[in-house]
Amino acid sequence: MRILIINGPNLNMLGVREPSVYGTGSYEQLCAMLHGWADMLDVEIEIFQSNHEGAIVDEIQEALGNFDGIVINPAAYTHTSVAILDALKAVSIPTVEVHISDVNAREEFRRHSFVSLYAMKTIAGLGFDGYRVALETLKTALAE
Ligand code: DQA
Repeated sequence: MRILIINGPNLNMLGVREPSVYGTGSYEQLCAMLHGWADMLDVEIEIFQSNHEGAIVDEIQEALGNFDGIVINPAAYTHTSVAILDALKAVSIPTVEVHISDVNAREEFRRHSFVSLYAMKTIAGLGFDGYRVALETLKTALAE
């Protein structure tokens, strides 16, 4: 089972970026945790991060035929990107959306997610652990 993990803009700044919202763990630490959870769950992962909407669209398109599932934290593009939503719909790969922070408890504009219109599940507010839950959710769904 192959799962692509996509992280959107500014997530490479984790640890430095608003630690009161996103915690003090770095992006490298998040990646190490992802590899640990993937080993534990016996799934293969590839991790991709970009600050560019088009690069994320390209990565989703290239996932067709190469990955069984996608975990995506589209970051700020969550709230703006019809292009990312359309790319997910185009490849039709089972997808779980993750947010480190509780987007529903923050500014009003963070409550709307385009990606949620496609994702089978949205996990928010669990910190880095949300990615573990997303991997477990996908593994269970894909095994059915
Ligand atoms: C985020 C929440 C978004 O609103 C924000 O723009 C991010 C990160 C999260 O993981 O909590 O960059 O997706």
